[in-house]
Amino acid sequence: MKVDLRNRNVIALKDFSEKEILYLIDEAARFKDLKAKRKPHKYLEGQNIILLFEQSSNRTRTSFEVAGFDLGLGVSLVDLRYNTLGTNESLEDAISVYDRYYDGIVYRGPDQKLLEYMIDLTDIPIYNALTDKFHPSQMIADMLTIREKFGRLEGLKLVYLGYTGDNMPSSLAITCAKLGINFVGCGPLEYAADKDVVSLSNMFSKNHHSDVIYTDNVKEAVKDADIIYTDMWIGLNEKDDVPVERIKKLYPFRVTQEIMDMTKEDSIFMHCLPAFHDKKSTLAQKVIEKLPSDMDLDGMEVADEVFRSEKSMVFDQTENRIGAVKAILYSTLRYE
Ligand code: CP
Repeated sequence: MKVDLRNRNVIALKDFSEKEILYLIDEAARFKDLKAKRKPHKYLEGQNIILLFEQSSNRTRTSFEVAGFDLGLGVSLVDLRYNTLGTNESLEDAISVYDRYYDGIVYRGPDQKLLEYMIDLTDIPIYNALTDKFHPSQMIADMLTIREKFGRLEGLKLVYLGYTGDNMPSSLAITCAKLGINFVGCGPLEYAADKDVVSLSNMFSKNHHSDVIYTDNVKEAVKDADIIYTDMWIGLNEKDDVPVERIKKLYPFRVTQEIMDMTKEDSIFMHCLPAFHDKKSTLAQKVIEKLPSDMDLDGMEVADEVFRSEKSMVFDQTENRIGAVKAILYSTLRYE
């Protein structure tokens, strides 16, 4: 049966079948190729989307903008960092307005439940641009990046090191499970994923006889790994109140060259960015100032030499965000 995603909401990949996810990855690759060959693809001309961002973003906001422009969409950006939905008028009224003006609503904010509620307020598709739970557009870009590198997805081993209960590892656990990639979340067990994520990913992985495992044993975890993935240990809103205790607990799980040396020879390193890999950002300088002087950090979650190494796929992932967003927007907004 042909995949038809028209008018679907894209708020979490747990709601999509394996076939549908693979279709989105294929479409992302197709759009990347069109862009590389400079072939125009304004397939959605005449439609408009609105980006509602309650939190800061570099990649996701711009990838939705660029993908939208390339597809011929009109794109409005509403920066809601200082004036969140529901402040000047009710959320319900605001969505009812956007429903009359736009063909799709893209939302970034701290609450997946709000996205689920928005779905009940409108018939136009709702897109998740990252919440506390999931990051679907990042997942399509990451899976395309992995497939480009290895030529396959099924049977690979992806190890996430760090805060394993966060939104990125939760998204990865579920996406890997759907696609037959073995997922290992390795970090302090007190930060492991919530029960819903564990039971969902276990259920999905059974179709492929693949594994979803959580552990705090780094050596066991990274042995034979194809992919090492990590993300920042602090939220961008924590710069003035640095979580020193959390950083100390996560320190043994940082990605160093020594860790990469324990993985497979052709392994890769991935990070969704932004990354704390050196001291060049103001954020990094502010955070390091507040850490005990005996903590030697050239970066935080990843050593600079790993981030800059040939194994590092971080900017390929970023590039693939454009094709991924095009795949999501085109497949859900196309008329025929
Ligand atoms: N990876 C990612 O979502 O980046 P931004 O926070 O810059 O959008």
